[in-house]
Amino acid sequence: MQIEASWDHSYTDDCTPNFSTNMGLPRHRWYEFKEGFGHTLVERAINETSLSMGKEHLTILDPFSGSGTTPLTALQNGCGAIAIEVNPFMSFVGRTKCIEKAHSAKIYISELEWILSQKPVEIESKLEDYSTFCSKDGNTKWLFNRSVLRGFEALYKHILNTAHRDFFLLALYSAVMECSNARKDGKCLRYKKNWDLLAFSSKELREIFHKNCQTIISDLDDSPLNNGERIFYEGDAREKLGLLKNNSVDLVVFSPPYLNSFDYSDVYRPELFLGKYVNDNSELRRIRGKTLRSHVQYKWMTSDKPQSTWAKNIAAQVSDNSDKLWDKGIPQMINAYFCDMEKIFSETYKVSSKGAQIWFVVGTSSYAGIEIPVDLILADIATKQGWSLIGVNALRKLRTSSQCINDDIRKVRLRESLVMCHK
Ligand SMILES: C[S@@+](CC[C@H](N)C(=O)[O-])C[C@H]1O[C@@H](n2cnc3c(N)ncnc32)[C@H](O)[C@@H]1O
Repeated sequence: MQIEASWDHSYTDDCTPNFSTNMGLPRHRWYEFKEGFGHTLVERAINETSLSMGKEHLTILDPFSGSGTTPLTALQNGCGAIAIEVNPFMSFVGRTKCIEKAHSAKIYISELEWILSQKPVEIESKLEDYSTFCSKDGNTKWLFNRSVLRGFEALYKHILNTAHRDFFLLALYSAVMECSNARKDGKCLRYKKNWDLLAFSSKELREIFHKNCQTIISDLDDSPLNNGERIFYEGDAREKLGLLKNNSVDLVVFSPPYLNSFDYSDVYRPELFLGKYVNDNSELRRIRGKTLRSHVQYKWMTSDKPQSTWAKNIAAQVSDNSDKLWDKGIPQMINAYFCDMEKIFSETYKVSSKGAQIWFVVGTSSYAGIEIPVDLILADIATKQGWSLIGVNALRKLRTSSQCINDDIRKVRLRESLVMCHK
């Protein structure tokens, strides 16, 4: 069967593939995660699956949960949630957004007041001497002013003495990134305009932290989230899926890393260091080594090939044009990526119950001027692992990113699609 993408407006309208709509919603807005998808997509998947299975309380799995849009939307809609995420910082974000409200607002407010009353308000940070975290000899640009780093360290230390530390830590991470001299921009951190004149200090950090905590405390009232089972695994989905019981999941919703050489452990490096999830580059490398093989930042030294002939042929075609590639490891990355996804589809199939659905959003790619219809290839792979295809719906056209190296290649139009299957 020929697999094609169609443009069905009911899906393009309902299933927002980006995070922006989440930023106006309780709990979702606690941390901006640009690479996340919209809650509406998960809601539509819940509605359609509930209807087709004749079941109200679904168990929903996201093997690449990122900032937790899927588990949070699942819980907000009376469903159970299972989430897997390899990046310890992102796993913390998702978990924290799903913590139930345990007390009245008064208790949280008094903890917040206690944190803000503690002295000192600045403590020396180990990161002051590390890489480009702060100004030092040899750095022409730095991510944080010294006062911001020290203000962060002081608040961090005081927060660790509180009972509901996760809420406050999340508010602090979001505040410190607002007080950074750089912002996330696609695959990199870009310095803000006139960054050196912005003069962020511990004072702004404390003000933004205070505001963020107030938002969290008021959201706990609006969205208490006291029902629904939730399980969070921190680690590699390829391994963690093996821990789930067969036939225990009703709906799988996710967006895997795209085949676009975007390394999440790189983009979220400041948070990983600030939160002490890693202390040096070798610890960062350990996390990177467990990520899906969708980038060339880590050399896996593998010759793994997928079973899919379509995937293998595309990798071979790209390899034949290797003189046009910006990295010689790209054909190997393509093979390894589809291998990893074969494993994800076979494992999710095993843990899903009869009639369960799988919904995923993915973008297409292009290397050496060759379009890689990742959405269609993954749809094909999913069917080879047992899933029955419902459809591939293109959601939007994408800008061609820096995967491309010359103007000819820039003409390749990429798209982002929603793929749906059932068991
Ligand atoms: C596109 S993002 C998911 C965003 C999510 N849908 C949201 O709305 O927040 C893909 C996520 O997959 C994670 N990831 C990469 N490799 C992984 C692996 N081997 N196991 C589990 N998660 C992984 C990345 O860290 C990233 O957070």
